[in-house]
Amino acid sequence: MTKPITEAAITELIISSSRSSCSSKAKTFCMAELGCSSGPNTLFVAMDFVKIVSQLCRKHGHDELPEFQIHLNDLPGNDFNSIFKSLAHSFHAQLLQEMGASGAGGSAPYCFLSGVPGSFYSRLFAAQSLHFVHSSYSLMWLSRVPEGLEMNRANIYIASTTPASVINSYYEQFQRDFYFSEMSFGGSSGWWKNGVNSFGEEK
Ligand SMILES: C[S@@+](CC[C@H](N)C(=O)[O-])C[C@H]1O[C@@H](n2cnc3c(N)ncnc32)[C@H](O)[C@@H]1O
Repeated sequence: MTKPITEAAITELIISSSRSSCSSKAKTFCMAELGCSSGPNTLFVAMDFVKIVSQLCRKHGHDELPEFQIHLNDLPGNDFNSIFKSLAHSFHAQLLQEMGASGAGGSAPYCFLSGVPGSFYSRLFAAQSLHFVHSSYSLMWLSRVPEGLEMNRANIYIASTTPASVINSYYEQFQRDFYFSEMSFGGSSGWWKNGVNSFGEEK
């Protein structure tokens, strides 16, 4: 369900990069997976990101494939060891199998994976260093309970009888929590939570 929207956001990112002057075309694309966990979904979107960006760069006549920096974020208690002992190996093996050997002349791009332990409610990355931020089923927990929820009376979430002021409180808390100064200009972010998605561009 989410793949076409993710693909559309990545495509738009590359098209805007191609429109920029040659000297400013991105040579390295950076993405962050927030709340990556340590299971089958950890590198799922990262793989799509690398493949889609690589295909589009070829299609738009970029001379060489860009390199990729992929930041995997979760809380410090996450099993980062499993990611780097097993998942990272499968990731590189799959890339190699599907795209060929890395480096000049080959067709799989260089991908650098790094673990970033910490809460996504704190600053985790350098300013304007990310082109694409993705998160699935991790952002439904806000950093704090929004104010004014007592007006919501019988509900513990937004329901059809929830007053507009409560919806606004949730919205404002979400905006405060997810202001990304780390996004590069023209970058894109997407997150998925319990059937709701949001993709936004930073200008
Ligand atoms: C339900 S799992 C989703 C995992 C994966 N993204 C997926 O779609 O399968 C939620 C993940 O978010 C992480 N998480 C929750 N709050 C977080 C926070 N404040 N900062 C970073 N990670 C967080 C949890 O540790 C957990 O690994």
